[in-house]
Amino acid sequence: MKTQLIKDLLVSNPDGRKVIVCGWVRTMRDSKNLCFVQVNDGSCFANIQLTYDRNNPGDANPENIESELKRISTGASVVAEGNIIPSPASGQAVEVSLISLKVIGESPSDYPLQKKGHSIEFLREIAHLRPRTNIIGAVARVRSKMAFAVHTFFQERGFQYFNAPIITCSDCEGAGEMFQVTTLDLNRIAEEGIKAGAKGMNPSKAADLIDYSKDFFGKLANLTVSGQLEAETYATALSRVYTFGPTFRAENSNTPRHLAEFWMIEPEMAFFELEDNMDIAEEFVKYLLDKALVECSEDMAFFDSRVQKGIIETLTHVAKSDFVRMSYTDAIKELEKNNDKFEFKAFWGCDLQTEHERFLTEQIFKKPVMVYDYPKEIKAFYMKLNPDEKTVRAVDVLVPGIGELIGGSERESDYEKLKNRIIELGMDPKDYWWYLDLRKYGTVPHSGFGLGFERLIRYITGMGNLRDVIPFPRAPKLAEF
Ligand code: 4AD
Ligand code: MG
Repeated sequence: MKTQLIKDLLVSNPDGRKVIVCGWVRTMRDSKNLCFVQVNDGSCFANIQLTYDRNNPGDANPENIESELKRISTGASVVAEGNIIPSPASGQAVEVSLISLKVIGESPSDYPLQKKGHSIEFLREIAHLRPRTNIIGAVARVRSKMAFAVHTFFQERGFQYFNAPIITCSDCEGAGEMFQVTTLDLNRIAEEGIKAGAKGMNPSKAADLIDYSKDFFGKLANLTVSGQLEAETYATALSRVYTFGPTFRAENSNTPRHLAEFWMIEPEMAFFELEDNMDIAEEFVKYLLDKALVECSEDMAFFDSRVQKGIIETLTHVAKSDFVRMSYTDAIKELEKNNDKFEFKAFWGCDLQTEHERFLTEQIFKKPVMVYDYPKEIKAFYMKLNPDEKTVRAVDVLVPGIGELIGGSERESDYEKLKNRIIELGMDPKDYWWYLDLRKYGTVPHSGFGLGFERLIRYITGMGNLRDVIPFPRAPKLAEF
């Protein structure tokens, strides 16, 4: 089949030539002599209209068309041939006057996506069909464009694309929220446990029944929470690298901002200090917003009118203005002045809560805020210690409506300081021998950050929940598809 996408047909010259339209029927309207079929193929937001005029069938074969029209209903797949002509209807430049029509797959009346609007929650239950809706189709196209823009941004700036392993034996964030990967036979271990219990084995020894040396990797392994540690190895060889891949967190948080499986973009740059890191993070976010506004304008117009009013204006403004940069200490001072408004009172040393992040970005500054130099206790082990020895060179980029979009830092590049920090946190330096080696051989200042791809897509589209900006969301008790 020599097919053309609807997005190309819609902007092509309506010169009457023959074209073939393939797609799924959105709606059909049959009034006495005129028949209109709206077809969508997901290549763009808009449908193309097929028209059939019974009084004026032209080259069409009325028998074929009438019998096929009877088989059409919402959701049916069709291949149509017709002449592309200017459309007299408003809101569309072209339409296709039918010559022949073939229904490839009928769509029975129990098709869940009938014309009326559906709640976003309902659509989640039919994740296999929801890409055929306007809203999820638009999200999917924006997501795809943004993925491409991520690569373009870094490739244009001399970064190498680096693939971090999905299975890892190290814990990057130290938050203990990892999914274990094992081939140990859990049933057998449970049976052995029961037998051992029957023989009077002390339950406190139960863990001894698990022998990780017999596991697939010979030790405890997990799905990665972040590719950063591995990316550092390549950044200290190729200077600038970035990852873009799935990451996994077994956080038991059922919120609109968390997924158990999400995609993260993690650039890592040698010879970058925290300020350089903040500069490129800001440039990156603005670049992506700009791309979305320019290259996804049709889908963005939909989000602006139907999902979040004013999102185009907001993002246009953000893409042009400077992000606020403020130290954690100053941010806490601001928040403390408003502690009467918070459920969780802010104080120096506390981790910023969602309500604090939102207050800073939505109430005080009304734009993205980069908070840096956090207390070391609330940040990961690898961050560079400041001379005050209380704070580390961390930076989080907070944005209105979302909260934390980016988390990053300058990395500790001093061997002794890093080793001491690892020991201080009760971790075993032996487990991080290769990571420490990077500080032993030709260490350099280096920095990086992680941007949660779904949080970015949510920010751009105004969608309310991360579960609707990833095709098949994974969250506690959610892995149906
Ligand atoms: O702040 P995080 O935990 O930072 C890191 O993992 C660093 N190793 C990144 C780096 O410096 N290379 O996570 C980074 C970002 C967050 O800012 C957030 O956007 C996203 O990842 N994120 C999540 N997105 C969806 N669901 C979750 N459960 C997420 N947890 C973090
Ligand atoms: Mg973070």
